[in-house]
Amino acid sequence: MANKSVWSDNRFWQRSAAWVTGFASVLLIWLTFDTMGQIAIGTDADLQSGVTKRVPGPTVINYKISYEMSTKRGHEVPVIGEKEKFFGRDDYSEEEAGALLHLGKLGSQAKNCMNCHTLLGNGAYYAPDLTKAWLDPAWQDGGTMQAMTGKSTKEEAMAEFLQHPSTYPTHSRMMPNLGITAQEAKGLVAFLKHMSSIDTNGFPRNFGRMQGAVNGK
Ligand code: HEC
Repeated sequence: MANKSVWSDNRFWQRSAAWVTGFASVLLIWLTFDTMGQIAIGTDADLQSGVTKRVPGPTVINYKISYEMSTKRGHEVPVIGEKEKFFGRDDYSEEEAGALLHLGKLGSQAKNCMNCHTLLGNGAYYAPDLTKAWLDPAWQDGGTMQAMTGKSTKEEAMAEFLQHPSTYPTHSRMMPNLGITAQEAKGLVAFLKHMSSIDTNGFPRNFGRMQGAVNGK
């Protein structure tokens, strides 16, 4: 009995279990707070002073958003640029922009976009991932979608498409008409524009290129 090894000692295992559980709990609590800080939505003041937040404030819809390769991070990151008109205005207040995003979010839930699309990693893969749909080159000036919808801005082309998707059979799969009104479409486009400005660590890598879709293919 004098030679009993520590590995067969019950108390050793009980203490180890208690320490590991305690350490893991502290780590999880710390990670939770750290994550909350990382994903907290920014403000209009941040945007005006050029502070980069992982989730920019709603008034990011007043700015141009581009997607640029970061050699440091090894993937593309959203870059917030100059002011840019969105449905003719670049001076939406925090309340106005917030209300539009809210309308878009409710619309996306009511019409169940996730039944076919993916938003921030949630949803289906039947249709293109929408996380970065706003940055899809097809919607840009000179892209196929403005010509096809007869609109001269990205947001108008997207809103027109959302109201009458089956009029524009651009891909092998067609999006059905979901009875989206002009105001709902405006909210949805604002929602998609804001979502594209979120730093998602380069996810998804093949946005808009799924199902052989959109990029003029
Ligand atoms: C029944 C399935 C379905 C539902 C529900 C659906 N879509 Fe689609 N959507 C598609 C398909 C399929 C495509 C690709 C075909 C096309 O664009 O003609 C598409 C394309 C799109 C595009 C163009 C994608 C890009 O990268 O350029 C946008 C934007 C879009 N949908 C937004 C929405 C929104 C917003 C909702 C919810 C309000 C929604 N869709 C609901 C099937 C669906």
